[in-house]
Amino acid sequence: MIPEKTGPAAVIVLAAGAGTRMKSRTPKILHEIGGRSMVGHALLAARSVNPQQLAIVVRHERDLVAEHVSRLDPSALIVDQDDIPGTGRAVEAALQALDAEQQLTGTVVVTYGDVPLLSGGLLAELVATHEREANAVTVLTAVLDDATGYGRILRGEDGTVTGIREHKDSSEAEQLIREVNSGIYAFDAAVLREALGKVTTENAQGEKYLTDVLGLAREAGGRVAAVVTADRWQVEGANDRVQLAALGAELNRRTVEAWMRAGVTVVDPATTWIDVSVTLDEDVRLLPNIQLHGATTVARDAVVGPDTTLTDVTVGEGAKVVRTHGSGAVIGAGAAVGPFTYLRPGTVLGESGKIGAFYETKNVTIGRGSKLSHLGYAGDAEIGEDTNIGCGNITANYDGEKKHRTVIGSGVRTGSNTVFVAPVTVGDGAYSGAGAVIRKDVPAGALALSIAAQRNTEGWVPAHRPGTRSAELAQAATKDSSSTPASTEEGK
Ligand code: UD1
Ligand code: MG
Repeated sequence: MIPEKTGPAAVIVLAAGAGTRMKSRTPKILHEIGGRSMVGHALLAARSVNPQQLAIVVRHERDLVAEHVSRLDPSALIVDQDDIPGTGRAVEAALQALDAEQQLTGTVVVTYGDVPLLSGGLLAELVATHEREANAVTVLTAVLDDATGYGRILRGEDGTVTGIREHKDSSEAEQLIREVNSGIYAFDAAVLREALGKVTTENAQGEKYLTDVLGLAREAGGRVAAVVTADRWQVEGANDRVQLAALGAELNRRTVEAWMRAGVTVVDPATTWIDVSVTLDEDVRLLPNIQLHGATTVARDAVVGPDTTLTDVTVGEGAKVVRTHGSGAVIGAGAAVGPFTYLRPGTVLGESGKIGAFYETKNVTIGRGSKLSHLGYAGDAEIGEDTNIGCGNITANYDGEKKHRTVIGSGVRTGSNTVFVAPVTVGDGAYSGAGAVIRKDVPAGALALSIAAQRNTEGWVPAHRPGTRSAELAQAATKDSSSTPASTEEGK
């Protein structure tokens, strides 16, 4: 067996901050972009470098965050930060928890829970550089046009990194520095442990700064270096909803671009929104203004859009889905859906089937080649193969208290406006007439009619709506044809 490539000893994700600028009841890091919470993105990047342990430091909205994290990554170690504020204190808490069983040795990576675009690739590059150069600390940095608010990277005359100065503690000269600390680092565990023991809260914010570790590591004779990324998005955090939207748009731009490079046609990338969890095959065509969410998958040659939202929908090969709102549905190969169609959970449309305009479906299995072309509702039902459901058909599945099933066989033809009063079964090859109300089972091959006789009362409009345009036209049309009886009933 090839031993699994071992990554760093640990990744520590910092997530104790309050995130007040989000102005939300939802903890900041639980806000989503690309269909995944910010902390979800952070955990995936952390996991991708294959750490032996993963710890996340929580405090603000602790229970909500911990519950969310445990669901996404059950083996993540959740560490509580105490009253002492600062990133240094947060890492110290995590290190103490990780050291509890056995003191960590080797590389310890620190990342943030609110930096969602950091890729596993960049994190791996940071770790690789750190280990190759045998550094005590390697910090990920970026050069920004506006570095306001960030910790600045201090470098000596020879260019070596000497430390980090927080914005609030910086001199005017230091504020001109445009290289900033991303807050993402690789540390040697022993250096980190030792330096954190010496970090104080004597600074402008009264916090235990993790950034102080760099200067202390250097003083102790360690090598401190930086990996500079040209991709500022990967180190950007979301503090408010404006930044959240900007990061969301950039993530989507990257996702859409990756799919185009993988062989998907995207007619309008700007109005195509694809969650990171979606899968698309080669030669899928995406038309403008669509949103693909959750576990949605689209198979080869299928066309989705325009104006379609799909959540957890499986679209089969060569299927067409036009102006549709769907969730929890399966659309078979070569099937057609839309326009103006509402697919609710449990809808399974067979190969070459059709659910047409102004149809709502829920919890219904539709066999191969069966068509529900226009205007209706099909819920809690099973429909066989090659059945044609006429215009305006409805499954009356709800008796006011319980839901009941409608079972319709194969090769069935139903007349317009048939109502199936469930529970009811229609056999193979049966027909129904227009306006039929199916209250009793229909045997195979039978024609089901429920006819209320039609009665025409001649001359009713001129008599009861005199002077109207209808009456006028009726009178003109019936002039000289006075021989017809006053009233007729169909079928007599
Ligand atoms: C920090 C860095 C700064 C860097 C910037 C990048 C320090 C002292 N400063 O500044 O150099 O340029 O990030 O964004 O590290 N957190 C905790 N516990 C705490 C405080 C923070 O877990 O007590 C977490 C937060 O949830 C957040 C991260 O650490 O994920 C950074 O905290 P934040 O307050 O945003 O740091 P800055 O002051 O912006
Ligand atoms: Mg701060």
